[in-house]
Amino acid sequence: MLVSATEMLKKARDGKYAVGQFNINNLEWTKAILLTAQECNSPVILGVSEGAGKYMTGFETVAAMVAAMDKSLGITVPVALHLDHGSYEGCYKCIKAGFTSIMFDGSHFPIEENVKKTTELVNVSHNLGLSIEAEVGSIGGEEDGVVGAGECADPNECKMIADLGVDFLAAGIGNIHGKYPENWAGLSFETLAAVNEKVGDMPLVLHGGTGIPDDMIKKAISLGVAKINVNTECQLSFQEATREYIEAGKDQQGKGFDPRKLLNPGFEAIKAKVKEKMELFGSVNKA
Ligand code: 13P
Repeated sequence: MLVSATEMLKKARDGKYAVGQFNINNLEWTKAILLTAQECNSPVILGVSEGAGKYMTGFETVAAMVAAMDKSLGITVPVALHLDHGSYEGCYKCIKAGFTSIMFDGSHFPIEENVKKTTELVNVSHNLGLSIEAEVGSIGGEEDGVVGAGECADPNECKMIADLGVDFLAAGIGNIHGKYPENWAGLSFETLAAVNEKVGDMPLVLHGGTGIPDDMIKKAISLGVAKINVNTECQLSFQEATREYIEAGKDQQGKGFDPRKLLNPGFEAIKAKVKEKMELFGSVNKA
């Protein structure tokens, strides 16, 4: 059931668990995540980066595929279709295409401009029933060419953006996209606690979910994180399972070259990874 992410994240924040945002790249990814959410009776957020949207031939294709798949698979758990790290133009494209949620990433603009553009997009989204995420303090690492250094957000700026009426807020707390380097200092719980105190009961978003140790995930949830984004870990699971299948020569046995067979181990690996994360985040049976 396609919905905005507002209610599911309010419930998560109150219930002290987090809803996973899993990024999609194609039909297999989407099907694996939707089926797992239904099997786990968990709410879920499908994240679409601008690059992935382009890869899938545009946001309209994505919205049409997700809506049709949600219906044909008989998905009854709440599903939000969410733009990940959207540009100002990207947000408007997704609103038009039928997404149920957007993220406006104005973290690279001066705070005044972030405020101005976020205010406008909050009004437009809410008038149309979409939820909206904003970001303060850039998330480190690289995603689709957007490079951030992993800075910690200023709690006062977080309050300023939260007060604009966004539904959930991503605050940089030393998290980065992709694999964490050996010398990573870990999440800054000091920053998270300070942000949490400033923004009241606003659900907070933790980007860069790949590779964060389980105990840090649990602590982050206890400090107001209600949405956790995972992308790279699903990609790695898919890649490992596919490599294993090919290295075992299974693609050369019988009809093992059939794309439906070739892509199946990766598909199953994504399902297992999403289930593992839903259990860790505590969203199982919370639909
Ligand atoms: P990872 O790729 O590190 O899991 O980060 C995902 C993310 O934050 C998407 O916005």
